[in-house]
Amino acid sequence: MEKPDWGQSLTIGNTSMDLEHRLQIGLIHALDESIRAGQTREEVAKILAQLYEYTNAHFLAENLLMRLHAYPEYPLHADEHDRLVGSLEALRRTFDSGETSMTLESIESLRSWLAVHIQGMDRRLSSYVAENGIPVVRRT
Ligand SMILES: [Fe+2]
Ligand SMILES: [Fe+2]
Repeated sequence: MEKPDWGQSLTIGNTSMDLEHRLQIGLIHALDESIRAGQTREEVAKILAQLYEYTNAHFLAENLLMRLHAYPEYPLHADEHDRLVGSLEALRRTFDSGETSMTLESIESLRSWLAVHIQGMDRRLSSYVAENGIPVVRRT
């Protein structure tokens, strides 16, 4: 699997989203490497569980950000998050079935799908928040 490109392609300019994406994509790479390195099923399962939990937390954070800003694309974007979680659940089932090569293929397609999501929907959300941000309340 190619190393993540943290140049212009995956960095979208929102500090917290960028940090969360690094962790999310980092976990996908750690998962891929743990299987290729022949780590035990328990070790691989632990990374897969972390990826699942972290992805859910990240999508929840983005969904809340969209609601906070009454973001017009919220329903479409949230639906895509649901589909991505569904593909992670399918990946978990593939791993549980012991199909190693199919698991690696599923990880690769999840990585590609996430990259497209970050570069498209997440980048648009980041721009919207930057342009329509809620003003910071100054305390005197
Ligand atoms: Fe998103
Ligand atoms: Fe995201």
